[in-house]
Amino acid sequence: MKKILITGGAGFIGSHVVRRFVKNYPDYHIVNLDKLTYAGNLANLKDVEQYPNYQFVKGDIVDADFIDNLFTQENFQDVIHLAAESHVDRSISHPIDFVMTNVVGTVNLLNAARKLWKQNYSNHRFYHVSTDEVYGTLGEDGLFTEETPYDPHSPYSASKASSDHFVRAYQDTYGMNAVISNCSNNYGSHHFPEKLIPLAINNIKNNKPVPVYGKGENIRDWLWVEDHARAIDVIFHNAASGTTYNVGGHNEWTNIDLIRTLCKIMDRKLSREQGTCEKLITFVTDRAGHDLRYAIDSTKLQRELDWTPSLQFEEGLEKTVDWYLSNEEWLNDVTSGNYQTYYEGQYDNR
Ligand code: NAD
Ligand code: DAU
Repeated sequence: MKKILITGGAGFIGSHVVRRFVKNYPDYHIVNLDKLTYAGNLANLKDVEQYPNYQFVKGDIVDADFIDNLFTQENFQDVIHLAAESHVDRSISHPIDFVMTNVVGTVNLLNAARKLWKQNYSNHRFYHVSTDEVYGTLGEDGLFTEETPYDPHSPYSASKASSDHFVRAYQDTYGMNAVISNCSNNYGSHHFPEKLIPLAINNIKNNKPVPVYGKGENIRDWLWVEDHARAIDVIFHNAASGTTYNVGGHNEWTNIDLIRTLCKIMDRKLSREQGTCEKLITFVTDRAGHDLRYAIDSTKLQRELDWTPSLQFEEGLEKTVDWYLSNEEWLNDVTSGNYQTYYEGQYDNR
């Protein structure tokens, strides 16, 4: 049985990837390695935890000895690496955590894979899941292509750019069979409510202010998380060694238009008079170094591997709101405890 390590599988995107691989590939043994930070939650994987081809290992990718031993014991065939510190605002207040997990953690995985696979790199794939934020920011025109030079602006994107460079360096130096994908903003179920869409849904539900940074004019390109998981599946199985693919939704929204659309959906779902939720919108101090616009050109992925996004944004937003409204226990669990301290530190003096 092919044993595949998926890191960060208890997080938002990782849980969708693990679910897809466990259910669609009964011949693969999926090992989910996750530290279970504030963002990792095994409740995200309740529906697959009993599957015979699924195994969870709690551990920290920053611990090199632990990672080396795990690779020796488990003899992984391939790696799909998603574990990361992922929130830009947290990277501004605690940059070193991002260096440790995103850079050192990635290099630890590369080193362990190198030792295990050195006899025959070509049979073993190291797939690194990255972000469009490494490309920096766009003005009003243009799209990020796979050739766009790296120009990260936040500690988060700088750490992801660094990890991408290490993956390419291991490909070039040691001949490792590595692939990278750089994806735009994901949305959907199990998204931690520190990020814009789930945070706004949670606040609207609780009649709390919805914080919009600056004037809300920044633009993001939103992709349904299950479409990202499908892209990862397609790339993992079909990409040539050393390839990079951009993944995106062709779906640009200013933050303020997105939040207004969400408010209309929530008025309807919560049986509030139209216009009620919009009154909660509150403009707050802008994020430092806030990138103006992200937009992905995913033509290469469409042309070479026949991937296209499946869902219209309004439909996806409705489904997302429905999921949060019918999973109150999940939302209450993740917003209790440390979340309150984070929230007060992040928003109270904005
Ligand atoms: P997330 O924060 O929801 O999940 C990250 C997971 O990694 C959590 O389960 C956490 O416990 C785990 N983790 C963190 N540090 C760890 C460590 N030291 N050792 C082991 N596990 C650790 O993140 P996400 O939004 O699901 O993002 C997953 C990946 O996709 C990241 O690499 C991110 O950069 C990338 N990405 C995210 C988006 C997005 O819109 N969310 C878009 C493009 C790319
Ligand atoms: O582009 C891909 C990236 O998308 C991923 O690599 C990151 O892991 C992921 O967190 C996401 O980064 P963003 O910074 O774009 O996502 P976030 O949800 O934090 O913010 C989306 C936009 O909304 C951004 O312009 C900042 C703004 N924002 C965010 C928050 C949390 C607000 O206006 N108010 C808020 O309270």
